[in-house]
Amino acid sequence: MIIDYSVTGKSKLLGLIGNPVEHSISPQLHNSLSRMLGLDLVYVPLRVDREKLETLVKAIKVTDFLGFNVTIPYKRDIMKFIDENAKEAILMGSVNTVKKIDGRLYGYNTDGEGFLRAFREAAGTGFKDKKVMMIGAGGAARPIAVKIALEGAEKINIVNRTTQKSVELAEVVNENIAEIVQVYNFEDKTLKLAFEESDIIINTTSVGMSPDVNNSPVKDIGYFNGQIVYDLIYNPIKTKFLADAESRGCKIINGLGMLLYQGISAYEIWTGIKLSEDKLKDAYNSFVKILSE
Ligand code: ATR
Repeated sequence: MIIDYSVTGKSKLLGLIGNPVEHSISPQLHNSLSRMLGLDLVYVPLRVDREKLETLVKAIKVTDFLGFNVTIPYKRDIMKFIDENAKEAILMGSVNTVKKIDGRLYGYNTDGEGFLRAFREAAGTGFKDKKVMMIGAGGAARPIAVKIALEGAEKINIVNRTTQKSVELAEVVNENIAEIVQVYNFEDKTLKLAFEESDIIINTTSVGMSPDVNNSPVKDIGYFNGQIVYDLIYNPIKTKFLADAESRGCKIINGLGMLLYQGISAYEIWTGIKLSEDKLKDAYNSFVKILSE
């Protein structure tokens, strides 16, 4: 018999609440981090139906959970069951990470932080005094717009197929952080200028994601002219949007780093450990290996 020492009676628990959760790489990512750091933690998938969400949260409160992640479709719904949500998470309108301290639950959103860490590392710059063009205004866009505004961007231009959604996102930032957001629609004559004046362009839409790989949310490649261009999509690694931008001299960054860093940031919140550069490199390598399997 092979003895498995990885889970013990003393192990503390972490998990992922969502529905579905089968496709998630978070269990592998977090369990690899615990192995790497020698921590007795076990991360488990917790698929749950909406009507049982509160029961599950109550169960977590009375068991040996250190914390948990939350994914689609509960990132907003979970907030009402959390004792204290961070101000940033409230602005972002969603929580993806919860830490339990003395039986109380604290909610955070690490999507914005994950995006920022990945961006800084790849681009070698942040958002202070930068002009940014954001494409999309859905669930993925809001944490990013809020984070960029909090980081001191000079201007955020947002273009989305459904203008109502970009107007709502603009209100969140303009009324709570700084009056820097301007909304465009795809037919606006001034849209090209807005792209050209921007230092950074970010795609937060799902356009171009596998299997829709021949599509891009930017139809005219003349909109690219040397900006830093970021796509939240990581499958494929190089979307048409990024390939077009690259062909026009832009520095391109895909969504892999954000996926990793939102997880690392959550892990750091639960454990209080700040990963060193070396450990981050190791984590990145195992992460790429997990994704390629
Ligand atoms: P997520 O949580 O990933 O952001 P979402 O809330 O459904 O998912 O938002 C998806 C984003 O991609 C939205 O900005 C959406 O535009 P709408 O607000 O108009 O729906 C955008 N999107 C998805 N498919 C699109 C398409 N074919 N053309 C343009 N935009 C699209």
